[in-house]
Amino acid sequence: MGSRARVRRTALMGVAALLLPLGAAQAATSEQVDTTGTRGIGDPYYADYGNGGYDVDHYDIRVSYVPRTDRLAGTTRIRAHAIQDLTRFNLDFVLPVSSVRVNGQRATYTQGRHELVVTPRRALRDGDAMKVEVTYRGVPSTIRSDGIKPWIRTDDGVAAVGEPEIAAWWFPGNDHPRDKATYDVRVEVARSLEALGNGVLVSKAAHGRTRTWHWREATPMASYLAFFVVGQFDITRSRADGLPVITAVASDGGKEGRFAAADLKKTPKVIRFESRHFGDYPFDAMGGVAPAADFGFALENQTRPVYTRGFWRFGPNIYVIVHELAHQWYGDSVSVDNWRDIWLNEGFATFAEWLWSEKHRDGSAADHFDMTWQSYPRRSDFWKVTIGDPGAHNEFNGAVYDRGAMTLQALRTRIGNPAFSTLLKDWAAQHRYANASVPEFIALAEEISGQDLTSFFDAWLYTAHRPAATEANGFPADFGARSARVTRPDSWSQIRHTRALLARLEAR
Ligand code: TRP
Ligand code: ZN
Repeated sequence: MGSRARVRRTALMGVAALLLPLGAAQAATSEQVDTTGTRGIGDPYYADYGNGGYDVDHYDIRVSYVPRTDRLAGTTRIRAHAIQDLTRFNLDFVLPVSSVRVNGQRATYTQGRHELVVTPRRALRDGDAMKVEVTYRGVPSTIRSDGIKPWIRTDDGVAAVGEPEIAAWWFPGNDHPRDKATYDVRVEVARSLEALGNGVLVSKAAHGRTRTWHWREATPMASYLAFFVVGQFDITRSRADGLPVITAVASDGGKEGRFAAADLKKTPKVIRFESRHFGDYPFDAMGGVAPAADFGFALENQTRPVYTRGFWRFGPNIYVIVHELAHQWYGDSVSVDNWRDIWLNEGFATFAEWLWSEKHRDGSAADHFDMTWQSYPRRSDFWKVTIGDPGAHNEFNGAVYDRGAMTLQALRTRIGNPAFSTLLKDWAAQHRYANASVPEFIALAEEISGQDLTSFFDAWLYTAHRPAATEANGFPADFGARSARVTRPDSWSQIRHTRALLARLEAR
C-alpha cells in the first residue's frame, strides 16, 4: 500500500544509473532481469523477506483450521498493483499450494523454501492492478524455513503469532513491514471453539458443525501483526472512547487467567494514558488475547496484542500490557523501515513502561535508568550491542529493550521535557500508518531540539561499549551521587519478569 516502495526503488535506480557507466546493451539486459521482480524487498538483514515489483493493497484471507491435526486449508485473495513491468513475481509462503490465479487466469508457479514464484499467463505492466488468488493446505507446525519454526499450537488450538516470521505459515503475501495493507480474515473452526483476529468482528456465522469468524482490520497493517488465535475463550465485548473493545482470556486459564483478565480490563485506561504521551490512538478497535499456553512472549498484534499466560505467573502485571499497547504507536502505526530499525519499537515500548511506573509512583523513569545502569557492569555483553543496528537475528536482544529505553530517558534529560514530549508525539504523527528509520528519528530529534545530537546518538545507538556518564550523553549533572542512592522501584520485579520472558527470544 502507498507509494513509498516505488519512490525508493526509482530513487535507487536513478543513483545506479548515475554511478554505473551503463552501456545501452547492459541497460536493456538489466531491464529484462528486472521484470522478474525480486525475491526480497531489500531488507539488509533478510534477503528473502518481502518481495519487490508489486505493492499489496488488501488481503482477503479465508482459512479453516483443525487443532487436533494442525491442518490448515485456505484461500487468500490479494489485491495489489505492479510497481514495475512483471513477467513473474514472488510471494512469501511456506505451505503447499494447489492453485494460483492472477487476474482470473490460472498461473504457473514453483515453490522454494520460503518463496512462491508465480508466472502469470499475461505479463503485468507497471501500475497494473493484480488480483492474485492462492489456494493451499498443509500442516504449519511441520514446516521449518531458514531454521525457523514459528507455528504455536496451544492446549486446545493455535496461536498464529510471531515476529518477524509468522505470516508465511498461514497466508501468502509480501511479508515485510514496508508493504502495509488492510485485511479481511475469515477463520472457520469447530463450533465449540472461538477464533480471534485483528480489528473488528464483522460477523460470526454457523454452518453445520463449524462457524466462521470474520475479522476486519481497516487500517494499514504490517504483515507480521496479522494474527489469528483459536481455542476456548471467554470473550468480553464493550466500548471505550467510542471504540469497540474485545478481550479474550482462555476459558481454563486458572489463576494466571484471572490476573490476565483483570489487567486486560485496564486496556482502555492504558491507551488513554499513552494517548496523552504519544498522541491520538491510531486504530479503530482495541483489546487483547491471553491463550492458555506458555509460548513465552507477548506480541503487539495491531489493535489486539496476544499475551502468554506466563506474564501473570507471579500475580498482576500491568507492565506487559503497557508495553504491547505502546507498540500500537511505535511498531504498528509507525513501523520499521527495515528490521535493523527495531530499537524504534522495543526501546520505545520499554520506555513506556518507565513512564507508567513514573506516573503511578512505582519509581520514576530516572530511577529505572539508574537501576538498569547498575544492573549491567561496564564489561557486560549488554553494552556490546549496537542497538541502532543490532544485526540479523539479534533484534530482540535485551539491550535493544533496556539500553533502548535508557537512550530515550537520556535524550529526555539532554533536550528537556518539553522538546522530548513534542518529539514523541510528532514522531508518531509524522509517520502514522507508515514506516520510518532510526536516522529519521535522529533528524527529527535534532530539528525539534535545535541541537546537534550526532555524538549523543553515536554513543547510545552505535557504539559497542557503555556510554560515558557525561551531561552530553544525557546523564544528569548529579548522576553519580544520585544513582548511588537509588532504591529498587516497586515496579522493578514486574518489569524484570516481563523482560526476562521477552529476553528468551534472544536465543531464537
Ligand atoms: N515484539 C515483542 C514484544 O516485545 C517480542 C517478540 C519478538 C516476539 N519476537 C517475537 C513475540 C516473536 C512473538 C514472537 O512485545
Ligand atoms: Zn516489544
